[in-house]
Amino acid sequence: MKAEILPASEAMERALALLRAGDVVAIPTETVYGLAGDATNGLAVAKIFEAKGRPRFNPLIAHVASLEMAQRVGRFDPLSRKLAETFWPGPLTLVLPLQPDTDIHPLVTAGLDTIALRMPRGFGAALIGRLGRPLAAPSANSSGRISPTSAQAVQSDLGGKIRLIVDAGSTAVGLESTIVKVGQDSLRLLRPGGVPAGEIEAAAGMPLERGGGDGIQAPGMMASHYAPGAAVRLNARSVGKGEALLAFGPDRAKGWEEAVAIRNLSPAGDLREAAANLFSFLRELDDSGASSIAVEPVPVDGLGEAINDRLTRAAAPRDKLPAPD
Ligand code: TXA
Ligand code: MG
Repeated sequence: MKAEILPASEAMERALALLRAGDVVAIPTETVYGLAGDATNGLAVAKIFEAKGRPRFNPLIAHVASLEMAQRVGRFDPLSRKLAETFWPGPLTLVLPLQPDTDIHPLVTAGLDTIALRMPRGFGAALIGRLGRPLAAPSANSSGRISPTSAQAVQSDLGGKIRLIVDAGSTAVGLESTIVKVGQDSLRLLRPGGVPAGEIEAAAGMPLERGGGDGIQAPGMMASHYAPGAAVRLNARSVGKGEALLAFGPDRAKGWEEAVAIRNLSPAGDLREAAANLFSFLRELDDSGASSIAVEPVPVDGLGEAINDRLTRAAAPRDKLPAPD
């Protein structure tokens, strides 16, 4: 069974009807496609976990349409307000203390006393505005697989489990949001993403803390994730027999002519272009039937940090922990 795919220009009323009835809908955001449900409806949120095969200890991001809506759910201090005003709508998720009297269903936060909040651009924002309630939405992929950047990618992964996919073409950013946890006079980077860390540090006027921390900060950030079927080999300077090549920039790895298939993230070496292409090219190379995907080095500055983070997870051994989302 397949899901219905409707262009964003025609999908609003149908999406609203499904959400109001407690169903889930795959929607475009500027980062990746999300699998959305009413964040105040426990049954809707449970359907999200079920469709993805996602463990329930892994909390979801609540998407909002305004700062007012966000403030009803999370407790903002001057620093978090500044970050929201600077980067929203956009690919930044803030983890904040949960308001005590919110109607967000506890499944969304997995029972934590914090909540991840983000204001997306485009269709998602309009939809949340019409619904008048936050939407819980993880990336619209089966747990542990590559995040979808097109309606077709959602269809081929979750199409049999959901009723509607709203199609707005390829997502502009191509990587999930950057997740920052706001503490008292501190900021911790939980997941690099669509807003480069340096831009957040500049706006906040303070450095982002990284790594370590007290326990699992972003439960979804486990080693094996974004896993294609093929093995992934990083920082490849040459292409082996039977390998596909994920290239970057103008210079090719040795033996590239023998690659089973090639995609270049950005021939000009532009990290923004590379981020937008990353997940769809990984899927395409995986579909080429190659046993392994060799990946040329990608610089780690700016958006390169998030690109390398996702590539490292795609390359991680698969037999460790079950990948949670
Ligand atoms: O760009 C994005 O962020 C996309 C689009 C759809 O908005 N969403 C997305 O959601 O990537 P998801 O569920 O795939 O990743 C959300 C991450 C998970 O790693 C989860 O563990 C973490 O956010 N998270 C959610 N709530 C949290 C909390 N209260 N504290 C720490 N981490 C949290
Ligand atoms: Mg995800």
